[in-house]
Amino acid sequence: TSFDCVIRNGAVVTASDTVACDVGIIDGVIAALGRNLAPGRREIDATGRLVLPGGVDTHTHIQEPPKPPLRSADTFDTASASAVAGGTTTVICFARQPRGGTLADNVAAYHELARASRVDYTFHLILTDPHPEILEQELPALVEAGHRSIKIFLTYEGARVTDAEALRVLAAARRLGAIVCVHAEHHEMIEFYCEALLAAGLTAPKYHGWVKPMVVERECTHRIIAMAEALDVPIQVFHVSGAESAEEVARGQARGLKVWAETCPQYLTLTAADMDRPGFEGAKYIFSPAARSTGDQEALWAAIRTGVIGNVSSDHSPSRYEGPDGKKAFGEDAPFTKVPNGLPGLATRLPVLFSEGVSKGRIDLQTFVAITATNPAKLFGLHPRKGTIAVGADADLAIWDPEKQVTITNSLLHQGSDYTPYEGMQVTGWPIMTLVRGTVACDGGEIVTGPGGGRFLARAPYPLIAPRGVFPGPFNPVDGVPV
Ligand code: URP
Ligand code: ZN
Ligand code: ZN
Ligand code: ZN
Repeated sequence: TSFDCVIRNGAVVTASDTVACDVGIIDGVIAALGRNLAPGRREIDATGRLVLPGGVDTHTHIQEPPKPPLRSADTFDTASASAVAGGTTTVICFARQPRGGTLADNVAAYHELARASRVDYTFHLILTDPHPEILEQELPALVEAGHRSIKIFLTYEGARVTDAEALRVLAAARRLGAIVCVHAEHHEMIEFYCEALLAAGLTAPKYHGWVKPMVVERECTHRIIAMAEALDVPIQVFHVSGAESAEEVARGQARGLKVWAETCPQYLTLTAADMDRPGFEGAKYIFSPAARSTGDQEALWAAIRTGVIGNVSSDHSPSRYEGPDGKKAFGEDAPFTKVPNGLPGLATRLPVLFSEGVSKGRIDLQTFVAITATNPAKLFGLHPRKGTIAVGADADLAIWDPEKQVTITNSLLHQGSDYTPYEGMQVTGWPIMTLVRGTVACDGGEIVTGPGGGRFLARAPYPLIAPRGVFPGPFNPVDGVPV
């Protein structure tokens, strides 16, 4: 055998082990793991480095909506550049059904746009208007074509579904063999708070946190888990922000339900105080659910250690802070209600999590790989091709210097946003090279591949998300038959 590339003398890290060995790559796939492998056409010395599976980021908003006016600061070109700059090699982004529109057209539009991606990708299907033709005609064909995850919002005007609609989506997902991901916040409660705050003249960025305290998320997390239990459908709760919603997830898991949970680096590192930064800087920290307390951060790390939270994704949702005219992109001193929710985070996900987690001793290397690559790949039907280092897996790799000290600044991140919420943060550990299917895509901070080359990942049915066949009562309401 002759290898296209050999990565030599690194410490190969998976979710189960750290092994000193070489990685031999042929045709973009890991062909051998072993000592003293034969020479490759390209040789990469990884002495003193970790060789990690490339990150799998299963919650990224890229180029939403697909057509101008673009609210997103990234294209698939810039988003995928920032992905590889941060050691991430697979993304799941979203194709969103416009209210009143079809999902299939939107999926087709994203297939076109995503041709500019450097990294492999697949889509969660966002249903905003799940009427019968969508659920009975479009959705079955899309799931069959490999789109095995659906997302619903229970808040946000124009995107949210009602509880009745959520139940219909859950039922369709069970019939078709898909998992449902949920943005869980109590919409009417938020609206009620919001009206009261605006009436009281409270509009600064920090009041974003006041309209959505934890009770809003905790209630909704409980509610969606109950709905999923009633219909026996596997779900993942998106962006669990603190202790109380993590407790709801843990309770569901303890009952044996197929309920998984995600959190994001921002909930592990930022707090409500960030929304109260001087001037209008707090606007950079407006995202939903809102950042909480240091106690919540500790609860989330604990939930990661115990496996209650198995996936840490970015919720990359990039906007610009300043427009081309140097003015605030969403208006000088705009009320918090006019500031787009979300922050850019594709590039910083792994370094921030490595530094705060592994370097500070909160989690071990195996947990780091599990929550950033292996578990998300398994949950969304991408494993073992993605998310691990094994013979036969795609050679998607991040070569990591665990000692490198970096001060985060936006220019390192190759993203479309003009800011990072982590500007000035000191981290220990950084990806020094990223390979996508055996091709070096980022080398020493430089992006060395052009846009394109990423492939769509169609997902076949997989057992992890099969329903349990257990209902809380004697009747299966999805198929309308006694259990
Ligand atoms: O604030 C956020 N998270 N914006 C992105 C959309 C979402 O809710 O995931
Ligand atoms: Zn498709
Ligand atoms: Zn969300
Ligand atoms: Zn999101």
